[in-house]
Amino acid sequence: MIISKHLLGLEGVQREEISIILKTAQSFKEVLSRPIPKVPTLRGKTIVNLFFEASTRTRISFELAEKRLSADSISFTTAGSSVAKGETLKDTVRNIEAMKIDMVVVRHQASGAAQFLSQCLDAGVINAGDGLHEHPTQGLLDMMTLLDKFGRLDGLKVAIVGDIAHSRVARSNIHGLMTMGAAVALCGPATLLPRDIPAAFGSDLRVFTKVDDALRWADAVNVLRLQLERQKHGLLPSLREYAMHFGITRRRLETCKRDVVIMHPGPINRGVELESELADGEYSVILDQVTNGVAVRMAVLYLKSGGEQEVMNGNGL
Ligand code: CP
Repeated sequence: MIISKHLLGLEGVQREEISIILKTAQSFKEVLSRPIPKVPTLRGKTIVNLFFEASTRTRISFELAEKRLSADSISFTTAGSSVAKGETLKDTVRNIEAMKIDMVVVRHQASGAAQFLSQCLDAGVINAGDGLHEHPTQGLLDMMTLLDKFGRLDGLKVAIVGDIAHSRVARSNIHGLMTMGAAVALCGPATLLPRDIPAAFGSDLRVFTKVDDALRWADAVNVLRLQLERQKHGLLPSLREYAMHFGITRRRLETCKRDVVIMHPGPINRGVELESELADGEYSVILDQVTNGVAVRMAVLYLKSGGEQEVMNGNGL
């Protein structure tokens, strides 16, 4: 199939393309387990990582993915750059592109920043999280982790719990999982749910108002961080009250009498949305998500650079 050179979001991305990325990521995961976890696949390509917003997991895993693929890569953060002198996003990236680059990975606080850059540049643009819009490689690594755990996405029940209104991770998960045939439910306080969910995501999306009902229903729960830095005042009475009604705790899981896989994109507000002991416990696949992030980003960089597509066969896809 024809794969676009950009990855701006998972909304509208076809099932076949997601399957190809996930299958390719499995192959790269095998590469990462070798004594020398490196291939010459992107030798000669130059990739710039533009991080206008803080990141630990995404930035490091893109940088590692680029090194594992033998690309030349440069990382840019706003501190110490001419952005501090008032240079615009467009001028910044057009100057960087003039140095002959092939691909840009961008994280930005503004929703739509990746789309905007794709219209200004000849280079491929990979969205590493833009405002409240999407975080497509997080959605892909979450799907890879679910596939590793359950062997399928089709028919899997995934509940996304927490601050969904401010979450680009939620949006990418919803679009990606629904495209792959999973059943998706949202659960959170009404003030932290998106407005008009059927119009935004279709009528197949469930909503639970009580977290215990979501836990009883789900095979896996993706617990989201309360994004206090993006919230307006007054959306929550207090963190204590949020933790009491929506925090995922061992006691709550035991009451629901279910084994459930616990995911979290990080960083975690321990003791708020997720009990600390549970984050590190037997139900958690949080560090598996981080491990899969490198393989998924290798697959995205490789395929978006025109790499050969894996033949689809089995593996739950
Ligand atoms: N999951 C995620 O995007 O984490 P970072 O903000 O640390 O990149």
